[in-house]
Amino acid sequence: MQRSDILSWLKETDETRLETLWAQADATRKAHVGDEVHLRGLIEIGNYCVRQCAYCGINACSQGITRYRMRPEEILECARTAHRLGYGSVVMQSGEDPGFKPETIADLVREIKTTTPLAVTLSLGEREDEELRLWKAAGADRYLLRFETSDPVLYDRIHPALPGTLSDRMAQLERMRDMGYEIGTGVMVGIPGQTWDILAQDIDTFRHYDMDMLGIGPFLPSPRTPLGGEAADTFRAAPGDQVPNDELTTLKAVALARLVCPQANIPSTTALATLDPQTGRELGLNRGANVVMPNVTPPEYRVLYEIYPGKACVHETAQVCHGCMEARIRSIGRVMGKGPGGRRAAQA
Ligand code: 5AD
Ligand code: FES
Repeated sequence: MQRSDILSWLKETDETRLETLWAQADATRKAHVGDEVHLRGLIEIGNYCVRQCAYCGINACSQGITRYRMRPEEILECARTAHRLGYGSVVMQSGEDPGFKPETIADLVREIKTTTPLAVTLSLGEREDEELRLWKAAGADRYLLRFETSDPVLYDRIHPALPGTLSDRMAQLERMRDMGYEIGTGVMVGIPGQTWDILAQDIDTFRHYDMDMLGIGPFLPSPRTPLGGEAADTFRAAPGDQVPNDELTTLKAVALARLVCPQANIPSTTALATLDPQTGRELGLNRGANVVMPNVTPPEYRVLYEIYPGKACVHETAQVCHGCMEARIRSIGRVMGKGPGGRRAAQA
């Protein structure tokens, strides 16, 4: 698929034509990754962050939020919960937080890997190679780092102050792949300043790097952030060029991601479920996605991990989300994934 095809699908409004896109994405998903939906237990291990990403509710400048850092024993208990619930992997996610010592993370990874069969995914932001190698040696399997946008100008506008350019994230992804990680990335749909061309380029970039995992969700404005307030207007592209942060566009991006990376693991994201609590998860799974990431963070912490307001599952427990996900997966005739659910081709 050429970039121009991606662009025309993104702009397509004819419902009958779009049915073809949905059908192609679903058939590609079925042919390459099957009917299993893999469950990743998401552990939001802390919300301290040194970055100032203009979209993110837990960025360093966000006022009025209580910061937390889970204790290692609490994190291990979440991993055990995920294992008990039958999940094949856990994702440890936090803001960029030097307060978590690299050795602490390494010890956690080692403990989970030696006491459970779980695959371990890290999502801890931009990191030094030394740390990434330490964690890999401890047994970490995968790393998630969304590049957020492939446009260098937009990237710099929404990631101010600290050094950290687009090339850094892409370069880190490549270095992590060389270290032996499965690598995941992704973007938000409808960030102020994101044009149709940029989003098409983002999806083309997924293809170019043959990503193992791709997370795509709508941008949801957080009033605590520059992009959630009135200043957002100054970021927005011209009306015809600006990508809307709606469900339909997100679903098109998910479907196209499946077509350009047929073997990738693609979650139906919490952000999509937040936008459409009734059917968002199912629509994602029916239009390309094959993964869900049920939250296993203890309730007292998950309310504090507010990267955007109204986040789905904030008031639920691990058990409730588990039951909810299972029911949703069954309702669309899919099956719960077994085992760690790594990328298939990478194992071949
Ligand atoms: N709306 C939607 N997604 C967001 N993220 C951060 N802030 C927001 C927001 N306001 C996404 C980013 C990040 C991931 C963990 O959450 O893409 O990589
Ligand atoms: Fe958490 Fe549905 S997955 S309530």
